[in-house]
Amino acid sequence: MTHTKCFPSCCFFLALLVMSTSALIGKSHSKGKDNPVLQYVVKNSVREPPVMEKLRLKTMEDPWNIMMVPPEQVQLMANLIKLIKANKTIEVGMYTGYNTLNMALAIPEDGKVVACEIKEEYVNIGKPFFKEAGVEDKVDIRLQPALKTLDELLAAGEAETFDFVFIDADKTNYDNYYERSLQLVRKGGIIAIDNVLWSGRVVSPAEDDITSQALDTLNKKLHKDERIDLSMLTVGDGLTLAFKR
Ligand SMILES: C[S@@+](CC[C@H](N)C(=O)[O-])C[C@H]1O[C@@H](n2cnc3c(N)ncnc32)[C@H](O)[C@@H]1O
Ligand SMILES: *[C@@H]1O[C@H](CO)[C@@H](O)[C@H](O)[C@H]1NC(C)=O
Repeated sequence: MTHTKCFPSCCFFLALLVMSTSALIGKSHSKGKDNPVLQYVVKNSVREPPVMEKLRLKTMEDPWNIMMVPPEQVQLMANLIKLIKANKTIEVGMYTGYNTLNMALAIPEDGKVVACEIKEEYVNIGKPFFKEAGVEDKVDIRLQPALKTLDELLAAGEAETFDFVFIDADKTNYDNYYERSLQLVRKGGIIAIDNVLWSGRVVSPAEDDITSQALDTLNKKLHKDERIDLSMLTVGDGLTLAFKR
């Protein structure tokens, strides 16, 4: 019988496969890029528009490119945006704008992305690609701390008018971003929170690791939060979806 013939090499292979798939898979452009399962996923599901591919490749020239959200994850968010017919969106931490461009392409003509970022050099990398894609009028870049922008939106009476928020800036402020976002989105709106697994370090945060601690605390808070429905996905570095009730 064939299964006895291939023992023990098959067993070894199977164990390896189980190990590699049960571990965190990571991002297809950085950690995890050599994972064969992730390679398969990307090869057989990612449909990246050419202008987004250009921005991604441009961003790969930056030393901090590990911060970029991977294609398999932005595509999920674009599909969620289309599913709930999102129009007004917010990106908290835009970096070079790979997901800002993704969201701008997924929303209707009169839709808007409020993009929060503090580093002008990053914003300037993305801008030409927004123009090339013809979505620059949909992108409202606010070059200042994101918390200030969210508070300004609330002060301007825009509570409950947003459909989708992506939180991906400084992790120790996540709870503040989450609380503001919960006020800014409508019922049925989605708050997507990135890096909630922090390469697995949230499982047992070190004593001096305030980032992992902050993420772990927020994860546990959301688990009990009656204001939302919740899914925590192992895509990328961990993506939480909070659906406002
Ligand atoms: C992980 S990156 C964002 C990646 C981006 N979402 C993408 O699609 O590729 C985090 C960004 O947040 C920015 N950032 C850090 N602190 C911030 C703050 N207080 N307000 C706004 N942006 C901030 C950083 O400069 C950095 O570009
Ligand atoms: C979409 O948002 C814009 C503001 O950004 C607003 O003027 C427009 O009416 C909204 N459209 C829909 C269909 O809600």
